[in-house]
Amino acid sequence: MRKFAFLSLLLTIPGLAFAEAPQAKPFGKTADGEAVEIYELKNDKGITARIMTRGATLVDLLVPDANGKTADVVLGFDDVAGYEGEDNQYFGCTAGRVANRIAKGKFSLNGREYTLAINNEPNHLHGGVKRSIDKVVWKAASFETDNATGVRFRYVSPHGEEGYPGTLSMVVTYTLKKSANELAVSYKATTDQATPINLTNHSYFNLSGEGSETVLDHELQLFCDNYTPVDDTLIPTGKIDPVEGTVLDFRTPHTIGERIKSLDDTSAIGYDHNFVVNGEMGELRPVARLKDPKSGRVLEVSTTEPGVQFYSGNFLKGQAGKGGKPYPHRSAICLETQHYPDSINQPNFPESVLEPGETYRHTCVWKFSAE
Ligand code: GLA
Repeated sequence: MRKFAFLSLLLTIPGLAFAEAPQAKPFGKTADGEAVEIYELKNDKGITARIMTRGATLVDLLVPDANGKTADVVLGFDDVAGYEGEDNQYFGCTAGRVANRIAKGKFSLNGREYTLAINNEPNHLHGGVKRSIDKVVWKAASFETDNATGVRFRYVSPHGEEGYPGTLSMVVTYTLKKSANELAVSYKATTDQATPINLTNHSYFNLSGEGSETVLDHELQLFCDNYTPVDDTLIPTGKIDPVEGTVLDFRTPHTIGERIKSLDDTSAIGYDHNFVVNGEMGELRPVARLKDPKSGRVLEVSTTEPGVQFYSGNFLKGQAGKGGKPYPHRSAICLETQHYPDSINQPNFPESVLEPGETYRHTCVWKFSAE
């Protein structure tokens, strides 16, 4: 009420101009006939981000190089049908309620057994099949402040949706700084029953521009001394091992392609590992630095989360993306800030259960520059 009164007072001051919050535009309909909208966030430094209400999904992200030439650095599709099709491997979406894998789709909580969909044999992946949060249409509202422009998405997942307990209220906010090339994604959630939660963004980056042939030449540095080894179904063994002496040692920059061959014969067919981010979880700290030597574009990722899944796009299969461009094997990289996979079944991993009265919070910041 007070806020409202203050706003109307400001509006009476002659000559005071307000920057307008981004407007929603139609982005077509889902197969079920639900309207999908898209928001465009722009800043003075050359970044344009487009985010749609289906799955609170980052659709386009235009980023300048050192000469100011922009390229769209995320994979995606031109329309909702593309995102609903078989070729969509979680491009740009908000993944959850529990992103990554839950072993055999089973967990128990407060004495009850829960069974979830097996959609990545023999495990549960990225929250399920029909009503996982990447597939539903979120409510959205944009905002504008002195320093930033953004859009806030809300979705309330009913108790039992995709087999998970509790009514889970989620808010995902994309905030683009006006005077810096920083796009932040922040997550908040509350529940009325204890429930596991792990929200992340599943953008596929290629800093040369989506549709470029490979990401193997990108240089990657990960601020991670340890990782969680997995079995051949990509479920953690429960151990936390040092990266030292392995091909997962990215503590100093290496190209993605330099040592990937030794992972060809693993079930991940490349990098698809959860790394333990150095420092205190809950504090925003550096995760990764990715550089494309061709364009000079650099992406720096920071997070409050304990882990990051580094996935080298191994399961991309040449499907046609935006403008019909093919997206081949290893032509993009995901850096999914998150809790460790299968945390709900792993007693020595950081807690992933949200209790009533608590608030889940997660921030991930993507900072772009060019060299
Ligand atoms: C995650 C997983 C990968 C793969 C992709 C989606 O990053 O870790 O194994 O399933 O999502 O294709």
